[in-house]
Amino acid sequence: MAGFPEGFVWGVATAAHQVEGGNWNNDWWAWEHTPGSPCTEASGDACDHYHRYPEDLELLAGLGFGAYRFSIEWSRIEPEQGLWSVAALDHYRRVCERCHSLGLTPMVTFHHFTTPRWVAHLGGWSEPDTAERFASFCARAADRLGDLIGSAATFNEPNVVALMGYQAGLFPPGRRDPQMRREVTDVQLDAHRKAAAALRAAPGSFPVGLTLSMTDFQAMDGGEERVARYRRSGEDPWLEVAREDDYLGVQTYTRMRVAPPGPLGNEQGVPTTQMGYEDYPPALEACLRRAASVVGPSVPLIVTENGIGTDDDGRRAAFVHEALSGVLACLADGIDVRGYVYWTLMDNFEWAFGYEPKFGLVAVDRATQERTPKPSARWLGSVARANALLAPP
Ligand code: GCO
Repeated sequence: MAGFPEGFVWGVATAAHQVEGGNWNNDWWAWEHTPGSPCTEASGDACDHYHRYPEDLELLAGLGFGAYRFSIEWSRIEPEQGLWSVAALDHYRRVCERCHSLGLTPMVTFHHFTTPRWVAHLGGWSEPDTAERFASFCARAADRLGDLIGSAATFNEPNVVALMGYQAGLFPPGRRDPQMRREVTDVQLDAHRKAAAALRAAPGSFPVGLTLSMTDFQAMDGGEERVARYRRSGEDPWLEVAREDDYLGVQTYTRMRVAPPGPLGNEQGVPTTQMGYEDYPPALEACLRRAASVVGPSVPLIVTENGIGTDDDGRRAAFVHEALSGVLACLADGIDVRGYVYWTLMDNFEWAFGYEPKFGLVAVDRATQERTPKPSARWLGSVARANALLAPP
């Protein structure tokens, strides 16, 4: 039974829009209701986590986890420009307090894909002023919450927002413009730096960073140059800025085999997940190694998301077991990985895919909102308690 270092963080993650319900004042809700958008269904009540968080946190703590990663919803806290909701901030204060009373470290994300409608109307992430607007939201929120924050991420996967929203057209605002994607990345980098400074100036003392979507790009048949190009546009600017941060969150789900003309698609014989990509747990180890090689030894890594969308819960545990073996291999080589946060606590709104993909450790009855932990929840909770890689059920 292989052990993890003392103090290794074991957590699970959610994101406001995917679980809270009723987040009608952001660009995603608008997107879900835009004719012709790729969304299969609307988020609606989601998991009603905005009201049910006390029982959800109790469940999480009872399973054995020590950290809860979640996002606070900008469109609730600043519903119109310069209009601050004390009630919304107090809500997130209560969430943080409940975490502490249950022994859960609150890992707070300030932007997880959703942007207030008013920010989108003013130009969204292609508008340079959005950087300042985001930093001022972070300052205000951290002023109220900072003393309770365990760790902070400015952005969740800014590279996915830039790619999916501005080049692939699958996220709001649905643009298909590679040049705009580059401009958005620059605005986000500026926003990250400004927001990080605001968070460091806030009450409390907590590590500040961001979380990055990383893919295990594998060059095939001379695809090295194309891989380098993908990394340059989507990962490298963020790995470089992370050198200024207190940690980097690594989020990996799969690999991509890349030949000179582009992605080769899934390999025959490799099973796929409900997301359509390969079920390939070794991707995590590869991405941790690459992140470490670019950011260098002085910035610790945390796996802030890793998981699988599947109806086969036994497969989920096997997937996580294999991914965690990769984390242990990194640790054995001296790579500073501080924690593992599973995506996600409960089955939830998987963006354009709707409620179909099941990433949760806990099932949610869509009619009654009843929560039912799956065997993988108990297994991963016992891994967390033991701080060691137990055999999957
Ligand atoms: C992310 C996430 C989550 C997704 C998860 C599964 O940060 O990547 O957006 O919100 O649900 O990645 O696809």
